[in-house]
Amino acid sequence: MSSFFDLSKKRRSVRTFNGEYPDEKVLNDLKECAASVTNPYNIPIRFVFLDAKDNDLSSPVLSGEKMYVTAVAKPGEHMEEAYGYSFEALLMHAYELGLGGVWIGGTMPREKFEKASSLGADEVMPCMSPVGVASDKMGMKEALMRKGVKADSRFDFEKLFFLNDFDTPLTEKKAEELGVLDALLNLRLSPSAVNKQPWRVVVCGNEAHIFERHDNGYITEHYDLQKIDIGIAMYHFERELKESGKEPVLEVKDPGIKCPDRTDYVATFRW
Ligand SMILES: Cc1cc2nc3c(=O)[nH]c(=O)nc-3n(C[C@H](O)[C@H](O)[C@H](O)COP(=O)(O)O)c2cc1C
Repeated sequence: MSSFFDLSKKRRSVRTFNGEYPDEKVLNDLKECAASVTNPYNIPIRFVFLDAKDNDLSSPVLSGEKMYVTAVAKPGEHMEEAYGYSFEALLMHAYELGLGGVWIGGTMPREKFEKASSLGADEVMPCMSPVGVASDKMGMKEALMRKGVKADSRFDFEKLFFLNDFDTPLTEKKAEELGVLDALLNLRLSPSAVNKQPWRVVVCGNEAHIFERHDNGYITEHYDLQKIDIGIAMYHFERELKESGKEPVLEVKDPGIKCPDRTDYVATFRW
């Protein structure tokens, strides 16, 4: 098992912090990562680190945090996938450094975070995350929230992943034969808004076609929050494939597979 797999297994959203600033060296490391992180679409994502007190920022679901990172982008084709991919790369690096965070796309005073991020007229800031060290004890509010969205569980493997078409569930055994078991298991550990897990994957030989299964209420004027979930999942999938020595290449070319209701093609990884 790769160390990235281990990290993904240990990762969870953190909403209760220890009330201290992150160590300066650690924070600088994270800032360097933010300045260099890329995505397969080569769409720029701008990260902004914000002090909670200086900017009078807070969130009703968080406690003990001293700072945040917001991510800003220009709306357009594939922005959401690129956004999810790049921001998740940054957050996984934060976990690697011993920090905690949580994707926040709803429960924040949005206008204040946008203003503090110096949002341009042509920019959006779909999400932010607190940055800090997790408190030893999870707050009661956080524990209840996790229970409410069943944050510790995921849909069955065979409900998310398919072989050649959507009529044939992919078994873990077959996924192993095809060399994608760990990558799919890692994808399945991804965070998603309200833990809706909108990702579906159809594996055909050495290709994995990634689809989005839409729920109601996630499309705003400028972006689709669940497509950001797909970008997050793409990061986990691709990184785990790379850990196993494969060289995945991203392509956007609809394979024409018949889709269930409310399900759309997003992208393909070939290796
Ligand atoms: C795009 C996105 C937006 C999210 N928005 C919020 C939010 O507004 N408030 C919140 O408390 N959690 C939010 N979450 C966190 C999810 O609830 C969490 O990832 C999910 O319940 C799974 O739990 P886990 O991350 O601990 O595995 C968001 C997650 C994602 C990926």
